[in-house]
Parts: sequence; C-alpha cells; structure tokens
Amino acid sequence: MKIGVLNSGGDCPGLNSVISGVVGAADKLGWEVYGFIDGFEGLLPEGGDYIKLTPDDTIGIGKLGGTILGTTNKGNFAAKVGVGDVAKIPEEIMSAARDNLKHLGVEALIVIGGDGSLTTALQMNEEGFNVVGVPKTIDNDLQATAMTFGFDSAVTTVVDALDRLQTTGQSHKRVMVLEVMGRHAGWIALWGGIGGGAQVILLPEIEFDLNKVADFINQREKEGKRSTLIVVAEGASLKGGKLVTTGDTTASEIALGGVGKIVADQIEPLTGKDTRCCVLGHLQRGGSPTSIDRILGARFGVKAVKMIKAGEYGRMVSYQAYHVGSVPIADAVHQLRKVDPSGEMVDTARALGICLGN
Ligand code: F6P
Repeated sequence: MKIGVLNSGGDCPGLNSVISGVVGAADKLGWEVYGFIDGFEGLLPEGGDYIKLTPDDTIGIGKLGGTILGTTNKGNFAAKVGVGDVAKIPEEIMSAARDNLKHLGVEALIVIGGDGSLTTALQMNEEGFNVVGVPKTIDNDLQATAMTFGFDSAVTTVVDALDRLQTTGQSHKRVMVLEVMGRHAGWIALWGGIGGGAQVILLPEIEFDLNKVADFINQREKEGKRSTLIVVAEGASLKGGKLVTTGDTTASEIALGGVGKIVADQIEPLTGKDTRCCVLGHLQRGGSPTSIDRILGARFGVKAVKMIKAGEYGRMVSYQAYHVGSVPIADAVHQLRKVDPSGEMVDTARALGICLGN
C-alpha cells in the first residue's frame, strides 16, 4: 500500500515526530510513504510534488523544529476563511489532487493540521478522498481532543520568556507586558501565564477593563511589589473593543497582533509605572519541541497509520484522558475549543490571586 502524508497551516513543534511515527509504523506494514511538499499544494503539480520517506530519512528529525516537508497557510486549498466561514475548494483543484494521487497509487492521505487544514481534510473526505486527520496547533483550540501537539512547546517558550521578563521588570520596577499567540483562544496565555508566574492574564474569552488592571497594579504597588507581569493573548480585546489586527490581509485567516502595545500604552498613564511591551510572536512556533510534544507527535503518527489500516477514514486522531483514540473530523472543526471563563483553569488562576481584568 502507498500512503501520503502532508502537514498544512502554520508549522508547529512536533510535526517531524508525527512524520517519523507515520513512516515507522507504515514501514512495519511494508507500506510506502509519500511526503507531500508545502501542504496540500504538493498535491497539485502534475505528478505531485513529494519525497518518498523511509525510516532512514527520519533518523533524528524528532528533535528538529518546523517540518521537513515544508508548509503553507495560504494557497488553493483554503477551506476556512475567517472565523467560522467555510469556502468550497474549487472542483478543478480537487480533480488535480485526485488525478495525481491516483496516478501515484496513493490510496490514503494523512493530513496533519489545525482547524483550517482539517476543514479542508473534511471536505476532501466528503469528496471521496480517504483521509485521516492528526490534530496540530500550538493554539490547542481544536474540539474533540484534550491536547494538540505543539501546545506544550509554545507554553514552555512563554514560561521561559516570563522568567526573563520577571528579572528585568523586577530590577527596574516596571510593568512588563507579554503578548502571546493563540488566535481566538486563550490557552497559551492561561497556561503560560500560570506557569510563568504572571500576575495578570488577559484572555480572548474574558473582556478586560484596563482600569481594573490598573487598580490591581496600584494595589500591588502599595503592598511594596516592585513589578507586575502581564500576559495578554493576541486575540484578547478591551471591554467594548474590537480584535486588534496587524492589517495583513494575505493570510486566509485574519492576522492578529498589537494588543500588547495598546495595553502597555494605556497602563503606563493609569499607574505611573514605567511599562514595556514584548511580543513573543513566532518564537512560540519555532525551535525544538519539548519531550511531551515529541512523544505525543510520535504516538499520533503511529495511530494515524493504524486508522488507515482499519479503514477509519474521515476521522482524526484524538487525545483524551492519556489515551490516543479517534473521533470524526467533523467533531473537531465546526467550532473552536475555547477557555471556559468559569472552568477549573480560570478558577485556579483566580485562586492564585491572578487578575483576569474583569
Ligand atoms: O495558529 C497558529 C498561529 O501561530 C496563531 O497563534 C497565530 O495567530 C498565527 O498562527 C500566526 O500566523 P502566521 O504565521 O501566518 O503569522
């Protein structure tokens, strides 16, 4: 049997471990693996753009960031446009992909992706492609899986950044604002903020009032605290305000960014404290995956091959209660998994004395 694997959307630490898991498990079954280049786009050129992958090609790749296959979050297969809007992939694109896979003899495709790419995978499955999904995103915002690989690495980077900001903020008696990724979900901000000892965490799921944040900082000042660490998710918005975007309209989904500077600019006059903003950006996506993401990635890759063997198409690998199983892709993509404002994690943050801005 010949199977294909591709990763699509933003890169994410742990992608190479998934590829390694796929190749290892397929090889044990005597299957051939075609790795398509630059996501779904690799399915398009005549004959397909791919590399054949053997276990020898994957030696040592688990520790590498990025993806050996390349990826893109733009192009011909964008099925998700904006929040909740789905576009139909043109028939000529579907047929070119179908013809190439048929010509190569590739019978099933593993799609490693987040919400957008799995929406594409679902459409392809509905059009008769044999597709299995693997949940990938640093944002951890997919339904039907307790965790995506990549999230732990992103959180680890946030914690490391906060450790560094804390010492410089403490030295200068400053308020340090760290803007983190996560799109419309606050998981990276919440986990990173708790792990890194932030005193204020601002999430997309909880509208915040900067006067309340300023009161909290002023109270800390009275108590003799020298500095305050604020983590703000890129998708967070001020009470009554809008999402802050970079104005980049080239991506298929709205590009978020800039809320950290707004928070810093407004907090400074309200508190009289010297305030600095740091945008962590793509540092959260790059670099070596943590061991958790390497292991999760390998398990996901192996499971995807097992799902093909069992003919479980249209389904996605899912991680629930320490167990790697599977769910219909449709269960994962129709709406984002967001932080529950009255859930246990937010409750824990409040119990730790963290201000959530409301
Ligand atoms: O979905 C992953 C993610 O890193 C988001 O957290 C972020 O908003 C977005 O991708 C950035 O995308 P790009 O790499 O296109 O700037």
